[in-house]
Amino acid sequence: MPNLLAQNIKKGLCKPQKMIPSSSFYDDIGSALFNQITTLPEYYLTACEMEILESHAQDISRQMGEAPIQLVELGPGDGSKGNILISQLLKDRKKVTYIPIDISEASLLSTAENLRSCFSDLMIQPIHADYINGLNQVKEGGGGRTVVLFLGSSIGNFSAEDGRHFLSELRSRLKPNAFLLCGFDLKKDKEILMNAYSDKAGLTRDFNMNLLTRINRELGGTFYHEKFNHVAVYNETQNQMESYLECTEDHHVDIAALDHVVSFKKGELIFTERSRKYSLSDIETLSIETGFHIQENYSDKKGYFVDSLFVNQE
Ligand code: AVI
Repeated sequence: MPNLLAQNIKKGLCKPQKMIPSSSFYDDIGSALFNQITTLPEYYLTACEMEILESHAQDISRQMGEAPIQLVELGPGDGSKGNILISQLLKDRKKVTYIPIDISEASLLSTAENLRSCFSDLMIQPIHADYINGLNQVKEGGGGRTVVLFLGSSIGNFSAEDGRHFLSELRSRLKPNAFLLCGFDLKKDKEILMNAYSDKAGLTRDFNMNLLTRINRELGGTFYHEKFNHVAVYNETQNQMESYLECTEDHHVDIAALDHVVSFKKGELIFTERSRKYSLSDIETLSIETGFHIQENYSDKKGYFVDSLFVNQE
């Protein structure tokens, strides 16, 4: 989607606080890098959520009832989380259609292929789109129940206001009693958070730097990686990890597709991502503000992460 990228980059790099929206991370290379991040020892989020799904899959399946299920997953990654739930639902003899939605086509197709090879009976209908456009294409089946998975604490990548807006929009596309299983990373010790977003192997740095590679390749940019550092900080007021690209020397960058030259000063920061951290009461407030009711909160043993089962009240 080069036009969207061009619009976002032009808008973001012209702001007084330069920024690149974090949705720009997920080209095919960025999606592959993110999948590698999820296997890092420091990036506890994925392991905690896998533990939650493995230990509570039976209860989650029970909550879904007996009707056929449309399991819609927003940003399925490599499909390993969906896999745990699908396997339980099929074991419980439920009819399941799996609908993964992703903007990275390569990632989407390889995930669909993986799941097809695991579950020969599973119906899979991948949708290559952003989340809202993808949800618009999901047709809620007659007697079936829609269950949306929005895992990994991806909700934390929205600002508080955009997150509320997104969940309200999502809910408005669901029938009454449809479920949303939403992952939230909980507030915790700052050092654990810092390590998760500035890992020793440098994969999070590569993930952040890939934004510059992407602008060079897709928009004819002249960014040099050597002129930027990956910076991760914990913002204690906002309760969020923040990622930046910090410029190491004064220079100009030409972006041909935008017909635009961007000036950078030494020490200047480009804001690239927020990852909000939540308390249980933040989650409850968010559910109420967006018209959901919390059916159940599932947590890991360390209490680092929560998968919250929201039900559409209307
Ligand atoms: C996808 N999202 C929830 C990840 C996060 O933790 O905010 C993206 C990520 N950024 C750096 N590491 C992982």
